[in-house]
Amino acid sequence: MARCAVRAAFSGAMDVSRRLEISFRPLDADGDGAARRLYHERICFMAKLTIRDLNVRGKRVFLRVDYNVPLEEKDGQMVITDDTRIKETLPTLKALIEQGGRLILTAHLGRPKGKREPSMSLRPVAERLANLLGRPVAFVDDCIGEKVEKTANALKDGDVLLLENVRYYNEEEKNDPAFAEKLAKVADVYVNDAFGAAHRAHASTEGVARVVAKRGGKCAAGLLMERELKFLGDELEKPARPFVVILGGAKVSDKIKVIDRLLEKADTILIGGAMAYTFQLAHGKPVGKSLVEPDHKGTALAAEEKAKKLGVKFELPTDVVVGKPVDTGKLNKKGKPVMDFVNIHTIKDAIPDDSEGFSIGEETSARYAKIISGAKTILWNGPMGMFEDARFAAGTNAVAQAVADATQKNGAKSIIGGGDSVKALNKAKLGDKVTFMSTGGGASLEFLEGAVLPGVAALSDK
Ligand code: 3PG
Ligand code: MG
Repeated sequence: MARCAVRAAFSGAMDVSRRLEISFRPLDADGDGAARRLYHERICFMAKLTIRDLNVRGKRVFLRVDYNVPLEEKDGQMVITDDTRIKETLPTLKALIEQGGRLILTAHLGRPKGKREPSMSLRPVAERLANLLGRPVAFVDDCIGEKVEKTANALKDGDVLLLENVRYYNEEEKNDPAFAEKLAKVADVYVNDAFGAAHRAHASTEGVARVVAKRGGKCAAGLLMERELKFLGDELEKPARPFVVILGGAKVSDKIKVIDRLLEKADTILIGGAMAYTFQLAHGKPVGKSLVEPDHKGTALAAEEKAKKLGVKFELPTDVVVGKPVDTGKLNKKGKPVMDFVNIHTIKDAIPDDSEGFSIGEETSARYAKIISGAKTILWNGPMGMFEDARFAAGTNAVAQAVADATQKNGAKSIIGGGDSVKALNKAKLGDKVTFMSTGGGASLEFLEGAVLPGVAALSDK
């Protein structure tokens, strides 16, 4: 704790390099672990092979991609509603095709739990990929076995084959070694471009790499994987300051590790989303029917305390958009009652007993936007409210606009940590106005927490 205090005393006046150097020093027992993990991972990644280091001509490249895309049923057909994850792999595919590799793509879709769930087939993805790539993409309705081997072995240089959902087998999620061996039968080289699934130690993300490496084969990162690690990792190591972190989402418990780690790096942290109500509760303010985690009041207060010690500005909402939930009498697909909200308005003080908070209010949005406009580096993870409902989207949209403006007008570097914040930006049509949007959800969160991703760790060192 003594070291925390020393750093706090210096942090205001310190120059950037000095501050950085110190920010890598352990602050407490927990910080120590995090700092070491981070250091280790950073050094490790810089030393990992990428496809730039390979020559795959004539080789069978087993390429793990994250094509876990949203689908909707239309006239009995499954239709892809967002193909970002497919598009983002095109540079890797094109580079490997140009090198003359024979590409065998594996992916998962949804959580079929070991069953052949037809609505989770990757067949529609093969079609979309062929369109985007402008060349044929073969498809086999399995990911292991004779048919796969025959098709893979008949590929010519530059050909592309997509295999069926690996999660049709339970052994995938169990990282079953025998299953990994079966997958690896068609792999001369292993490439992982599935950043979004790199936090999973599954057979296709981790096990196959080990099999290939044991045989003396190479395991490399794809260009998307490289980009994700650069922006979520390296770029945030030495952020241009001020570095403003915007964190939202439903739960403090989901974000506390990220908060804890980013407190060591950020100048300001802005809190929004339902998570903010747990902070309010911790301060003894009434939160009505808002989503809160009473068990995490202590967690919230400890984060604020740590911020104070480190000299990090920690901002909470000062107004909130509330609504009164009413039962519509209808049930949703899962048989749960569908709620509507009435008497929607903005309040500054206590949330009434019959109401629920759904977004940061106008005053908070304006204050956050002003802070964001002064930032040189921005990291955003988690929406400021229930943006899916237009009545509660204004706060999230204001933050999205502020992030886009800071990027476009002030040259700030803006990094969007995946999941719902990416959806919110795209919904506001601002997706192309930021520096980088991650394709990962859980993976980007774990990476930002400083965890080692098994899918990265399994790749060959340079
Ligand atoms: C995702 O969509 O977050 C990734 O594809 C991982 O999927 P999972 O959470 O089902 O493992
Ligand atoms: Mg997920």
